[in-house]
Amino acid sequence: MKITVSKELLARYPTARFIAVKAIGFSNSKENPGLEKEKRTIESALQKSKLEENSRLEKHKKFHASFGKSYHLEFEMKSIQSGKKLPTRNVLSDILFITEMKHTCIMSGQDIGTVKDMVFDIASGNEALTLIGGKEQKIKKEDIVLRSGPDVLISHLFGPGDSTKITDKTVDALYLFWFAEHISDREIDSIVQDFKRLLSLIQSEKSTIETFEVQEAGSEFIVTPWDVKGNIDYDKLVRQFGTKKIDEPLLKDMKAIAGEDHYFLKRKIFYSHMYLDEILKSHKKGEKFYLYTGRAPSGPVHLGHIIPWLFTKWLQEKFDATLLFQIPDEEKFLFKDNLTLDDTRKWAYENILDIIALGFDPKKTKIFLDTEYAGHMYKHACVVSKKITYSTIKSTFGFESDRNIGEIFYTAMQSVPVLLPSVMEGKKTRVLIPCAIDQDVHFRLTRDVAESLGYYKPATILCRFLPGLQGMGEEGKMSSSAESTAIYTHDDPKIVKNKILKYAFSGGRDTVEEHRKLGGNPEIDVAYQWLTFFEEDDAKLEKIYKDYKSGKLLSGELKMLLVDKINNFLTAHREKKEKAKKEIEKFMLRD
Ligand code: TRP
Repeated sequence: MKITVSKELLARYPTARFIAVKAIGFSNSKENPGLEKEKRTIESALQKSKLEENSRLEKHKKFHASFGKSYHLEFEMKSIQSGKKLPTRNVLSDILFITEMKHTCIMSGQDIGTVKDMVFDIASGNEALTLIGGKEQKIKKEDIVLRSGPDVLISHLFGPGDSTKITDKTVDALYLFWFAEHISDREIDSIVQDFKRLLSLIQSEKSTIETFEVQEAGSEFIVTPWDVKGNIDYDKLVRQFGTKKIDEPLLKDMKAIAGEDHYFLKRKIFYSHMYLDEILKSHKKGEKFYLYTGRAPSGPVHLGHIIPWLFTKWLQEKFDATLLFQIPDEEKFLFKDNLTLDDTRKWAYENILDIIALGFDPKKTKIFLDTEYAGHMYKHACVVSKKITYSTIKSTFGFESDRNIGEIFYTAMQSVPVLLPSVMEGKKTRVLIPCAIDQDVHFRLTRDVAESLGYYKPATILCRFLPGLQGMGEEGKMSSSAESTAIYTHDDPKIVKNKILKYAFSGGRDTVEEHRKLGGNPEIDVAYQWLTFFEEDDAKLEKIYKDYKSGKLLSGELKMLLVDKINNFLTAHREKKEKAKKEIEKFMLRD
């Protein structure tokens, strides 16, 4: 069985989330003493609580109100406040009511034996649903519904139909949590954990409980700090990671403070963030913040790597911020089979030259290798690691138990530079981390522990990946292992030209005649996409876009514009890299 969420639903309700939990091999008895106790606790808690202070209730009500409907759970909550008891039907139904009441969430429960593949979708307004009890209900347009084939099984506004309900005979149940309004991962986790706890009260030895993935329909892709594959949907990533989009007011604020608009922001290459608003707010009050970014050395630097660093340099200049640049030389040693610590150290020192070549201010930039600065870092890593459990690491990174313990600990080391500025300044100091979006996962863990350790939560400003030369479908981010998808900073002008002409995926037509007539497609053309990362001049870029689309500019010509752009950049870069050899000691921090 597969459960998906349609693209149309997410376009209409971008914050909607659906969680599925399967309870397999239960016996659906009438009553359970543990559950009865839970019910009494919830009833008395509800009686003491004020419904108008329940923010989740307000959110659900808002959704229902937009359809001119009231929210049935509110009535039930009120009736419990006035002394009514939670019903006792059978345990697999009871835990659903308990959870709905306790966490003010909307749930549905089904007998797995009766369900097939299902899709969460928006209603067209022509559907009808036979409710439990037999009444025909017309579904409202834009309601959220769960479909199976042509049938609507459940509606967000009207609840479940009678076709798939849990009965006394149910052994395997499927529970769905429906959230239309925004909810954080943390809230979801705590609701689901608590629900699983209730299930554990009624399970037997042969029962299993598992969270089941509700997938967004459409292309599949993977983005983790260790693995990026497929055609990445960046909006979906924001939803998956629970980060925020950089919106217009924030863009305006950045511009006002920096005195200029960076094209990475304008073009939404840096497009997401966490707590950037707080950084700007405190900066306006004159509070200084640190920048922090990093590079795990495992080979030569390619153009994809330097995108966040270029932006970091701009931030350093505009916000006059000190930068900590972490080189976790243990990371790729721990995560890959074929690198020794000597190898990664060698790459560290080679890569640092690329970093320095970008023009960071030596007075305000501190670079360190984890193995060389461990004396300063280790105790902080210990403090962080004590707050993060093995099960959190497993679920956050999708690790199985066969991972080495260095991998499990690593995220603590990546958290340390979030704490260091406060240590260095001798007072609580904020940190902004510019990086690619795959790294935010680490900092989500750091954010979970930072405040309890007496630090500010780290802020992040997050970018997309520079696509690989062969196109976005095959290789989401430019993989440094594939010669044909990446351009390295050491690639000489001839190699750059060859790679781009030979490999860059073209949105041009098959023949010149066709291209002149129909025009090219810049949207999928990698050379054009790369120019959005490297051509700063908006007017020039726009002309290229138009000329390419109209057919005036041919694919080969477009590629040559990119070749020249990159070669100009790299030629100058290599000169600066040569000079950096003499500068390196001005930047390094060691024990
Ligand atoms: N994990 C990063 C990598 O794989 C390296 C890194 C360490 C980093 N600290 C960071 C990246 C902070 C961005 C921000 O390259």
